[in-house]
Amino acid sequence: MSEAVEASSVEPAKSASAPQRDMFATKLGVLLATLGSAVGLGNIWKFPYLTGSNGGAAFLIIYILCTLVIGLPIMVTEHVIGRTGRGDAVASIRKVTSKKSIWWLIGASGILSAFLIMAFYTEVAAWVLAYIVKAISGGLLSTSAEVNTAAFTSLVTNPTLSLIWQWIDLAIVGIIIWLGVSKGIEATTKRLMPILFLMLVAVGIRSLTLPGAAEGLKFLFQPDFSKITGTTFLVAMGLAFFKLSIGMGCMITYGSYFRNDQNIPVTATRVVFSDLAVSLLAGIAIFPAVFAFGFKPDAGASLLFITIPAVFAKMPLGNIFVVVFFILTFFASVGAQLSLIEVIVSFLQSTIKLDRTKSSIATIVALALFGSLAALSNSTLANFKLFGLTPFDLFDFVSSNILQPVGGLFLAIFVGWAWGRKNFQAALSNDGALANQRITNVIFFILRFITPVLVLIVLLNGLKLI
Ligand code: TRP
Repeated sequence: MSEAVEASSVEPAKSASAPQRDMFATKLGVLLATLGSAVGLGNIWKFPYLTGSNGGAAFLIIYILCTLVIGLPIMVTEHVIGRTGRGDAVASIRKVTSKKSIWWLIGASGILSAFLIMAFYTEVAAWVLAYIVKAISGGLLSTSAEVNTAAFTSLVTNPTLSLIWQWIDLAIVGIIIWLGVSKGIEATTKRLMPILFLMLVAVGIRSLTLPGAAEGLKFLFQPDFSKITGTTFLVAMGLAFFKLSIGMGCMITYGSYFRNDQNIPVTATRVVFSDLAVSLLAGIAIFPAVFAFGFKPDAGASLLFITIPAVFAKMPLGNIFVVVFFILTFFASVGAQLSLIEVIVSFLQSTIKLDRTKSSIATIVALALFGSLAALSNSTLANFKLFGLTPFDLFDFVSSNILQPVGGLFLAIFVGWAWGRKNFQAALSNDGALANQRITNVIFFILRFITPVLVLIVLLNGLKLI
C-alpha cells in the first residue's frame, strides 16, 4: 500500500529521445498493467486444462521450473530491452544493436506470434462472452457432465455464434486500444485484478469443501512422474512462455513504457509470482470440483466451461456469482488481449508510421478475418487440418510451443552474447542507481548459459528432432 501512495506522487518520467511516447503514469501502474498482460485466460482456462490433460502435479512442477529458470530471466530481458530501446518490439531491438545486425527479426517474429495468438485467444474470449449471456439467462447451473458438455459443444459447433462473439470481443478490445496506453490499458486492468483474485478464492473454498474434493488436491499436488514424456516438457515450457507473455515482444513493448526509475528485476519477479498464484488458485477452484463431480480432468479446452457451472450450482446465490465470475474472466482476458494487440498496433504506428486510429482499425479488421479460421475450427472448418491440428490448435501450438520459445532463445543469446554484461547491468541498475549487481550477475549467467541450452533441448526433444 505504501507503494501506491509513493507512486501517485511521482510524475511520469519522459524519455528525452522520444518525448511523445506515452508512458505508464506510476510504478504501481506499471506492475498492474504488466500483470494485466500476464494474467488472463492462460491462468483460468489454459493452465487448468493443460495440467488436467498432462497428468497433474508432475506437469505442474515442470511448469513451475520452466517459469522460474526460463521465464523470469527472459521477462527481465524483454523489459530492459524495451526500456532501453523505447520503441515497439522491432524498433527497440534495432535501437540497442548495430544498424546492420538482424536481431530485430526476433521482434518481427513476435508480430507474427501476436497474430496467431490473438486468432485463437479471441475465440476463447468469445466463449466467455457467450457464457456471460448464458449465465444471465439462467439454465447454466448443472452438475451433470453430459448437460454441461452439451451446452459447451452446442456453442462451439455453431459457426454463427462463434464468429459473432469473436467480433464483439474484438470490437470491445479495439475501442480500448484506440484510446491509448496509459488511459486505456492502465485504467482497465488496475481495478479488476483484486476482485478476480477474491472471486477465485471464494470458488476455491467452495470447490475444496465439496465431498470428494481431496482427490482433486492429490491430482494437483501429488506428482506421478510416470506420466511425463518429451512432449510434456514442451507443453509445460510453452505454457510458461504463454503465461508470461514472453518470447514475442509483448514485454518489450510494455518495457518501452516503463519509467526510468522502475526496478525491473523486482517488478518482473512480482509479476511472475503473482501470476503463478492466480494459476494455482484457478487450479484449486477447478480440480477438487472435477473429482467431486466425477468429471474427467483431461476434458481438454472445455474443462473450465463444464466445471465452473457445476461449482456454482452448489453455491448459495450461484446464479448471480456465475455471471460475475465470467464477467471478471472476460476482463482478465481484456488486459491480456490489449497487450497482444499493442504489439501489432505500436509496430504499425512507429515502424510503419500509421496513426493510432488507422493502426487500430487495420489490426482489428485483420484479426477479425484471420481469427475466423480459429472461430470456425469446431464447425465449418473442423476437418480442415494441418499436421493433424485444426487452425485453432495449430495457431496455439505454433505460437506457444515454437515461435515464443525460439524468440526467447534468440533473445537470451542476443543479450548474453551480443549486447553483453556491461550494457545489461547498466540498464538493470538504472545506470548505477540500484545496488543490484549480484542479482543481475546471476540473471546474466542464466541467460548466457542455462536458458538457451534448456530451451533448445526441450524444443528439439519435444518436436522429436532429437
Ligand atoms: N499471458 C496471457 C494469458 O495468460 C496471454 C498473453 C498476453 C500472451 N500477451 C501475450 C501470450 C503474449 C503470449 C504472448 O492469458
